[in-house]
Amino acid sequence: MQGRNIILGVSGSIAAYKVVQVARDLTQHGARVDVLMTEGATRFVTPLTFQTLTRRSVITDLWQDWTEDAQGHISLGEEADIMLVAPASAQTLARLALGLADDMVSLTALATYAPLVLAPAMNYHMWEHPATREHVRTLQDRGATVLTPGRGRLASGAVGEGRLAAPAEIVGAVRWRLGRSGKLAGKRVVVTAGGTREALDPVRYLTNGSSGRMGYALAQAAIDAGADVTLVSANVELSPPWGATLVPVTAATEMFAATEQACKHADVLVMAAAVSDYRPENPSDSKLTKTGGAMEFRLVENPDIVASISRPGLLKVGFAAETENLIENAHAKLERKGLALIVANDAEATIGAPNAALTLLYGGDRVEELGMLPKEEAAERVISAVARLLGA
Ligand code: C5P
Repeated sequence: MQGRNIILGVSGSIAAYKVVQVARDLTQHGARVDVLMTEGATRFVTPLTFQTLTRRSVITDLWQDWTEDAQGHISLGEEADIMLVAPASAQTLARLALGLADDMVSLTALATYAPLVLAPAMNYHMWEHPATREHVRTLQDRGATVLTPGRGRLASGAVGEGRLAAPAEIVGAVRWRLGRSGKLAGKRVVVTAGGTREALDPVRYLTNGSSGRMGYALAQAAIDAGADVTLVSANVELSPPWGATLVPVTAATEMFAATEQACKHADVLVMAAAVSDYRPENPSDSKLTKTGGAMEFRLVENPDIVASISRPGLLKVGFAAETENLIENAHAKLERKGLALIVANDAEATIGAPNAALTLLYGGDRVEELGMLPKEEAAERVISAVARLLGA
C-alpha cells in the first residue's frame, strides 16, 4: 500500500466509528488517505478525527469556498488508485448505483475511474430490501467489490445481516483490489501452510510447531501481486488473507487430496506446509488408555505431496527446513521433487518464529541469500522470484 492514493468515502451510519480504525490502518500501511464525508457521517464522527489520523484535510461540503486546499481535492479522483466507501449506507449505495452526485462521496465516485470497494452497513430490513439488492447487483456488475456485511446484533438491538465488515477485512479487501493489476494477475497460485496432524486416537496426534505464518504471508504476497490464491491450510490459527480461497485440512493425506485438486488448474504450487513424513498406521477409534508400560506405534510413510503432483506448466516451489547440511540437503530435494525453486532455512530458528533467514536455490546451482527478514518481507521476495521464473 506504500505510496498508494486511497479515497475513503464515509457515509452516515453509526458504523462510521469503526472506519476510524480503517483510516488509521491504511495510513499506517503507507497509503495516502483522503477522507470525504457525507453530512450524515459528520453526525456520527467528526472530520477532525479523520484529519488527525490521516494528516490530510477532510472534505464534507460540496459547496465549500474555493481555497488552495479545496482546489487540490478536485484532482483526487484522477489521482486515486482506489476508492473505498465505508460504511456504505443504503442511501449512499443508491446514490452510487444511480450515478447521483449530490454529496462529496457520490460526486467523487462518479468522477473517478478508480475501482470501488464498498463496505455496506445498515439495518437488516434495508439490506434485504429489493431496492438495495438491486443497487448492489448494479454496482457489482460495474466492477465494484462489495463486502458482505456480517450477521449479528445491530446497533438497533435487532439481530440480522447488516453489520459493517471488520476493519481488518475492509483493509484486506482494499489490499486485494489494489493488487489485481500486479505481476501475477491472472495466475492461479496454490499455497499450502501450517503443520499436519496425524491421529493417534480421536484426541491425540503427532504434529510439529509450524504456525503457518510463512504460508499465510506467501498467500498474502501472491494476492498483493494479483494472483488468484487457494490456501490449503493445516491447523493454523491466523486469519487468512482477504480474497484467498481457504481449504482447511488436518492430516497429510487430506492435504494431498486437497492440494492435488487445487493444482488441476494452477500455474504455481508453493508448498510451505510442514507435512508429517509419517503417520500412525492404525490410529485407535477410541481414546487410548494407559497400559502401565511402554506403548508402541508403527508409523507408515505419508505420500510426498509436492513430489507426487506434477502437471505440464505447473511451477513448483518447495521449502527445506534443515538442522544440518542446509544447502546440500535442499539441493538434493530440489532435484528429487522436481522443483523450480526451493527455499532453504534453518528449521530450529524458523519454525514458529516471526523472522526467517532464507536461501533460495534454483535449478542449475543458482543460489540467492535473502538474509534475516520478517516472514512478510521474505514472502514478498519469494513471490517476486516466482514472478521472475514465470517471466512475469
Ligand atoms: O523432504 P522434506 O520434508 O524436507 O521436504 C520439504 C518440502 O517437501 C516442503 O516443501 C514440504 O512442504 C514438502 N513435503 C511434501 N510432502 C511430504 C513432506 C514434505 O510435499 N510428505
